[in-house]
Amino acid sequence: PPNFDRSCGELTVKSSRDGNDANINWDALGFCFTQTDYMYIMKCSSKEKFSDGIITSYGNIDLNPSSGVLNYGQGLFEGLKVYRRKDGGIQLFRPEKNALRMQTGAMRLCMPSPSVEQFVNAVKQVALANKRWVPPHGKGSLYIRPLLFGSGSVLGIGPAPGYTFMIFASPIGNFYKGRESLNLLIEDKLHRACPGGTGGIKSIANYAGVFETVSHAKAKGFSDVLFLDAVYGKYIEEVSSCNIFIVKGDIVSTPATQGTILPGITRESIIKLGRELGYQVQERDIPVEDLTNADEVFCTGTAMVVTPVGSITYQDTRMEYKTGEESVSHKLHTMLTGIQTGVIEDQFEWILPV
Ligand code: COI
Repeated sequence: PPNFDRSCGELTVKSSRDGNDANINWDALGFCFTQTDYMYIMKCSSKEKFSDGIITSYGNIDLNPSSGVLNYGQGLFEGLKVYRRKDGGIQLFRPEKNALRMQTGAMRLCMPSPSVEQFVNAVKQVALANKRWVPPHGKGSLYIRPLLFGSGSVLGIGPAPGYTFMIFASPIGNFYKGRESLNLLIEDKLHRACPGGTGGIKSIANYAGVFETVSHAKAKGFSDVLFLDAVYGKYIEEVSSCNIFIVKGDIVSTPATQGTILPGITRESIIKLGRELGYQVQERDIPVEDLTNADEVFCTGTAMVVTPVGSITYQDTRMEYKTGEESVSHKLHTMLTGIQTGVIEDQFEWILPV
């Protein structure tokens, strides 16, 4: 589709692993792939548990055409970030939460999964091996992408006989480059997830289904699409790749996760930080009408962090919201990113130094 901007700006990347400097224009980073030096890979059969993985040079992998992931979509992904502190050290934010979410998803898709310890150790190894790709403090982060998929051969429908867990990394900047706030379009015909489906896990299959809708919205000048629940078509659920919050006075609300909404780690952290800041934070069903009189709307996600929404368009009516330095979303963004980058003290044991 022509409406997905995947350009990486003026990145100049040195191809060799010599030296510590990644020789990259850190100011031009967007949310797009830049190859780094190393990746992690660990395999097991359906009858075993994962045991030993290795760090290896970044490169293509062999994948059987009859693998479970290629034929039946048996796969999950995760996303987390490595941050550079002012003192030059690097740190992770709540990586065990990603490990636990992957375990929940693996159970739903009948896959073995790495233990929390294996997952976190592997993430640390990838972070250390690619340390030169962690942007300077305040210039972005190193995005870590763990994958778990059926790599064994299947033809009859069912779980694959073998599995691969792997992790790659890429330096990134802002998800929506050059935009200060989002203008969303509400989609009321196509849905992202339905009750009893896989919307609540990070299944790879949840994402391609939104491409068509998002590309049409982008062609009309919108930044992204907000999806409604599939049963009543009445409650707001999730933007294509992030959670949503609304603010009215001192009440901050976000849709309750009941299987159709991804339990975002940023979402959970913002609920906690919102309460710390004295807001009443509610997880509830949010009818689309509540958008009419909301003061603010913002999105959260690992990639998205906390991004304000400037407007939402629903059936040709455009609603506008407060953004800027006085907004609740700005306060929450400052607090979250301060903790993530080591500028604000972490009272919650969310940070794991690498
Ligand atoms: C993330 O925020 O890490 C996500 O997984 C969203 C992704 C589709 C960019």
